[in-house]
Amino acid sequence: MRKAADAMLRSPASGHGNAGAPRAMLLRPGADLDGFRTAVRSLVAEGVPPEGVTWSEADSPGLFGTGAAHALSPPLALPKPVAALIPQVIPHRDPERYGLLYALIWRVCHGERHLMEVGSDPLVHRLHRLAKAIGRDLHKMHAFLRFRRAEGPDGERYIAWFEPDHHILEAAAPFFVNRFRGMRWSILTPDGSAHWDTEALTLGPPGDRAQLPEGDGFEAGWQTYYESTFNPARTNLKAMRAEMPKKYWHNMPETAAIPALVRAAAGRTEAMIEREPTMPTRRDPARAVAAMADQDPKTLEELNAIIRRTEPLVAGATQAVLGEGPVGATIAFVGEQPGDQEDRQGRPFVGPAGQLLSRAMAEAGIDRGASYLTNAVKHFKFEERGKRRIHQKPTAGEVSHYRWWLDRELDFVAPKLVVALGATAVLALTGKAVPITRARGPFRFDRFDNRFQGFITVHPSYLLRLPDEAKEEAYAAFVDDLRRVEALGQELAA
Ligand code: URA
Repeated sequence: MRKAADAMLRSPASGHGNAGAPRAMLLRPGADLDGFRTAVRSLVAEGVPPEGVTWSEADSPGLFGTGAAHALSPPLALPKPVAALIPQVIPHRDPERYGLLYALIWRVCHGERHLMEVGSDPLVHRLHRLAKAIGRDLHKMHAFLRFRRAEGPDGERYIAWFEPDHHILEAAAPFFVNRFRGMRWSILTPDGSAHWDTEALTLGPPGDRAQLPEGDGFEAGWQTYYESTFNPARTNLKAMRAEMPKKYWHNMPETAAIPALVRAAAGRTEAMIEREPTMPTRRDPARAVAAMADQDPKTLEELNAIIRRTEPLVAGATQAVLGEGPVGATIAFVGEQPGDQEDRQGRPFVGPAGQLLSRAMAEAGIDRGASYLTNAVKHFKFEERGKRRIHQKPTAGEVSHYRWWLDRELDFVAPKLVVALGATAVLALTGKAVPITRARGPFRFDRFDNRFQGFITVHPSYLLRLPDEAKEEAYAAFVDDLRRVEALGQELAA
């Protein structure tokens, strides 16, 4: 193995250059992308060939191989595929990763500019394999990491323990920030930890599985969800193990159910075949609302925690999409329900309709960051068509199921002006179907006892659906509405 790696490091271009004692480069343990980059710049600038360098890891930052010379060397102009490969390989635990990458960079800088296109080159092939392993490890972490809720002196925090194969924590963390932006969480691993406080991500020392709180109600939810979605007719143990290797099971509450489910699978399949087909049972929105009201949240965070833990009324959504913006915002905008992008990113109004809304807000002089944006319904409802997830309009029953949340949210945010974007928002705010064309403009939402003023306008997705020739005029009218909203907001805030 060593021999093969040594051979990969040698290249026609590396016969000349610095002879003498090899340069010892010391990088931080783990994935030291910055250290590697600065080291490479100075090594290339000084003409040190790959076989003239040794790479190792040490805790003490004072030991860095080339010291101050690092900072002085200019960045290298590397071809895109090489630049992209570096961060994909560095998290690998293979101790030769830095040497292999440096060999690649050296060759690319010495006449083999298109080396990455030569998939059969042993060095390129090996680096691709390392990058692939990192991709798989990231996928496992994204899919199999499970949080447990903990109450600390500073409130609620979600904690997860995970043992990745490689040093991927830093690379994996942005995924969890996007998914769980509104939650405070910590991910502990044997190599390091990541902490999110709803605004900033910090990296810390290794964690310990003992720091994981006891299982909570959340876990029972995962298990019930897994049991209810487990299809006994599709039990394929080999495929299950390949997709979800056993080493992850001890961190995943739902896997406690697997052995029993597998044992029962054959019997359940027969029963499924024999059973008369039945209509799905309707859920009872009134009961769900009563159960939620019992929980009596005292802050927007407590309310959001309940929403996050609640199952979608219609199955399929990735996560609840919560409102976004400051408590005390003068203007709150209420849309219909999250779309495909919102469901993936866990944030309201980030897809095409949201981008159009942002543009119109900016043209009307409304600061999106100072406004509160939310939806009448908190989960994405869709129909799958091939690979696409096509938005489905929520029913009146679904809107009323989620209305308790919207009302409480508006209690906590206490805006001076609430803007209903489209018919579903109007239905949620008034309890009635009110035609937008007639009600467009300032409006009193009587249900709220004048706690805020109201305004009704169209939903931005309506503008997207219009034929091209009608778009411009409709958009201008929408921006005009938002200008009125802005003026009203100014007046109410004064
Ligand atoms: N449409 C909405 O009503 N809300 C969103 O968050 C996105 C699209």
